[in-house]
Amino acid sequence: MSADQTRRREALADLFREARECTLCSLCDSRTQVVFGAGNADADLMFVGEAPGAAEDRQGLPFVGRSGSLLTQMLSGVGISREDVFIANTIKCRPPDNRNPKPEEIESCRPWLFEQIRLIEPKVVATLGNFSTKLLSGEATGITKFHGRPIVKRLGSRVVFLMPLFHPAAALRATGTKELLADDIAKLPPLLSGPAPVLHDE
Ligand code: URA
Repeated sequence: MSADQTRRREALADLFREARECTLCSLCDSRTQVVFGAGNADADLMFVGEAPGAAEDRQGLPFVGRSGSLLTQMLSGVGISREDVFIANTIKCRPPDNRNPKPEEIESCRPWLFEQIRLIEPKVVATLGNFSTKLLSGEATGITKFHGRPIVKRLGSRVVFLMPLFHPAAALRATGTKELLADDIAKLPPLLSGPAPVLHDE
């Protein structure tokens, strides 16, 4: 492992230690633990989901339930292993009863996510569902219109391809959505192996 890779791991581990004590919003009162995110610190591809569910809150890891299995299976279908990617969420603590994240929770949690992106330096950030897509695109456009069309976006110090995807939980509920998600996931390998994202209008 190079010195840069070691530094990156240490910086992410420091961030995790800080995040797990977070009390920036009231979700700290009801969570079992902070679900920081997991995966390859050097990933070119990063996923951003919505929020931990019950299984994630228990285990402290993202996407360990049914949505996670579907995501893992779809990724392996296009030759991407879960060990190669980093998976995080828009908010790091489970909302009670799996309710939607509140705007103030998303805002409080946002610095953790942006710091993860800054440290990992992904080429592609795939957003899963409306919450992460709206936060990171800065657009009100919902996932139904936006999915599968990557845009070049600056996220803090990093310029990435932002690839909006349906949330796997939505794909578990509707076969049509599952097919659309699989089609969109098939666009990830060419995006990863193609030219780097360039921002023209800055
Ligand atoms: N759904 C999410 O958005 N994130 C998880 O970690 C699990 C389910």
